[in-house]
Amino acid sequence: MVYQNFSQGAQWLPFTPNRSFGQDPRVFVAADGMYFTTYDGRRVIDGISSLWCVGAGHNRREINEAIKHQLDTLDYSTAFNASNDRAFEAAERITALAPGDLNKVLFCSSGSEAADTSLKMALAYHRARGEGHRTVFIGRERGYHGVGFGGMSVGGIPANRKMFGSALLPRVDHLSFTHDPAHAYYNGEPESDHDLLVELEQRILPLHDPSNVAAIIVEPVAGSAGWYVPPKGYLKRLREICDRHGILLIFDEVITGFGRMGTAFGADFYGVVPDMLNFAKCVTNGVIPMGGVICRQSVYDAVMDAHANSPAHAIELFHGYTYSGHPVACAAAIATLNVLRDEELFQRAAQIGKLLGDAMHNRLKGLPHVISIRTLGLAGAVELSSLPGLVGKRAYDVYLECFHQGVLVRSAGENLVLAPAYIVNAEQIAQMVDVLAGAIRKHA
Ligand SMILES: Cc1ncc(COP(=O)(O)O)c(C=O)c1O
Repeated sequence: MVYQNFSQGAQWLPFTPNRSFGQDPRVFVAADGMYFTTYDGRRVIDGISSLWCVGAGHNRREINEAIKHQLDTLDYSTAFNASNDRAFEAAERITALAPGDLNKVLFCSSGSEAADTSLKMALAYHRARGEGHRTVFIGRERGYHGVGFGGMSVGGIPANRKMFGSALLPRVDHLSFTHDPAHAYYNGEPESDHDLLVELEQRILPLHDPSNVAAIIVEPVAGSAGWYVPPKGYLKRLREICDRHGILLIFDEVITGFGRMGTAFGADFYGVVPDMLNFAKCVTNGVIPMGGVICRQSVYDAVMDAHANSPAHAIELFHGYTYSGHPVACAAAIATLNVLRDEELFQRAAQIGKLLGDAMHNRLKGLPHVISIRTLGLAGAVELSSLPGLVGKRAYDVYLECFHQGVLVRSAGENLVLAPAYIVNAEQIAQMVDVLAGAIRKHA
């Protein structure tokens, strides 16, 4: 019998209005290419790569086969004091793609774990170099680094923080949100009338003293908040400031990694090499949970060098997960990287992204309540003004309307986001943007 108890099922859905969901369940039972099938037999186009994960599209035979083969060969092996061949191979493939001397990967299973791993690595690095006093972390307003206590603390989305205040890490500060309402419409990198990093240099760093700061963590483009692109030159300048003060720079590339910007990483797009780079999502095309932190050789070396005189059995970093480098996840990652390479999907994302950007600007600008459109790479957001006292309702209603019209979009605050798989075609982009336009008009 087909299971259909979705309205009052036993599941508590994450980041979802559960009461509303119960009245209008949105449940998928199959997927292929760009499309889902719902439990009630409808076809829905996946306009968001299932939350930025499915870069190569759904149901990729090559990835599925690699997973099946791996299950029949080595299903799982412990990650501590031993490893597996796939984990080494996946790490080599990932670091080969990464810029600069980002040479070492520590695997985990999610973006949240990657965020906390990178913060802990930063503390370990400074301590290893005799600077254990560097414990201040700096994130950014509207940043998202998952839901662990570390990632939540450096994150800057107010709703994610407000219930958990007393459990947030101490000694955390935040850079200002980068969005400039005077430049609310952009198709590419925005301009800004202000130098946003003056605040870092003249207020935040002097307040804590730069010698106490361990790391600054930012997403190259703020994804979860609603695709807010930093102004031209921002990340390069951030790198320079970090270098000047011995502060580590962490890029959280859980969304921007593996092709979304039309390059392997956001770091490549911006020509800035961070000290650590967090990834998840697209690395396995979403099919098996995996995350990780790639760090520069110098970060790894510092932690190892501190143990130069330790006995051979001494562990250098007391951190890791049961599923770090899970062989099945690593097999999925290797197969995913093959598909991305063989089908030149990063390049395709760059090309088709221009089409998405143009379509969103041409079709959505000027519609009722639209106050901003931001596109770059293969992603874009349209922002609506809020109904008085009901922040987010307008976008949520538009999201529901799109779903009922056969297009899965994402609502984030008052933003509607499109971020389709890199295999999307022109016709599908037109359909997504048309449905979004119709839904915005309907809820005017
Ligand atoms: C930049 C960034 N970091 C971390 C995370 C958290 O990842 P996960 O949900 O896999 O824990 C996300 C999720 O969207 C993200 O966008």
